Amino acid sequence: MKKNILLILAFVSILSADNLDGKKVFETYCWGCHHQTAMAFGPPFNQIAAKRSFDEIKAYIIEPKAMYKAFGYKRTVMTQFHLSDKELNLIANYILSFKGK
Ligand code: HEC
Repeated sequence: MKKNILLILAFVSILSADNLDGKKVFETYCWGCHHQTAMAFGPPFNQIAAKRSFDEIKAYIIEPKAMYKAFGYKRTVMTQFHLSDKELNLIANYILSFKGK
């Protein structure tokens, strides 16, 4: 019986170790330069969400240097990250969740 409880606890902790969400990606990589609805060093997520698609947002994060001209910037100072596909999808959806806010 005790063993079963330990097994369940171990399983729950494995599950919660992988509860990565968009907010966590944001807090880990983006928060220093972007805020959700307030201007920071970079534009706020509600402004980005108002004018960009899911794919555009992902493309910008993957390689700002390849995208900044198309986005209307004269230069880019954004860090280039190497996020996993999962992290990219989570953060792009997180940004889009601020549409209209
Ligand atoms: C070092 C500061 C910095 C960090 C860290 C940063 N950004 Fe940026 N980001 C900027 C700046 C400044 C711009 C404006 C254009 C440029 O310099 O590339 C920008 C532009 C963008 C754009 C395009 C904005 C538009 O016009 O639609 C997106 C999308 C974006 N950032 C997403 C992210 C995400 C997601 C993260 C975290 C994974 C992140 N950025 C981390 C500074 C940063």
